[in-house]
Amino acid sequence: MSEFHTVAKVGDIPEGQGRSFALGGTMVGVFLTEGRYLAINDFCPHMGASLADGYVENNAVSCPWHAWRFSLVDGTWLDNSKSGIRSACYEVRVEGTEIQVRMALPTPSPVAGCNSPS
Ligand code: FES
Repeated sequence: MSEFHTVAKVGDIPEGQGRSFALGGTMVGVFLTEGRYLAINDFCPHMGASLADGYVENNAVSCPWHAWRFSLVDGTWLDNSKSGIRSACYEVRVEGTEIQVRMALPTPSPVAGCNSPS
């Protein structure tokens, strides 16, 4: 089940920029653009650059390595939207002063053998 998780405080992400946060083993890029927080997977599908370091314009981010552009609204690779290549996107909300991202976190699995008799 997905729930909202606090990743930052309002003011931590300047307008027109992104920041990356680790959440449940996934790096999430959270962006503030035109007064709205948007989140996509931070890992560029091309070669893995951090999209949070990219240039933000018109609800899209350009990857800092080779300038592939991704929609911050739905993760679509805008340079070839019919390719099927997209970044996962996540719902974001602000609760008080906290920026929260909705994600289903993996449940920890028990360590096999840690309570086994020796
Ligand atoms: S690593 Fe992002 S466009 Fe190449």
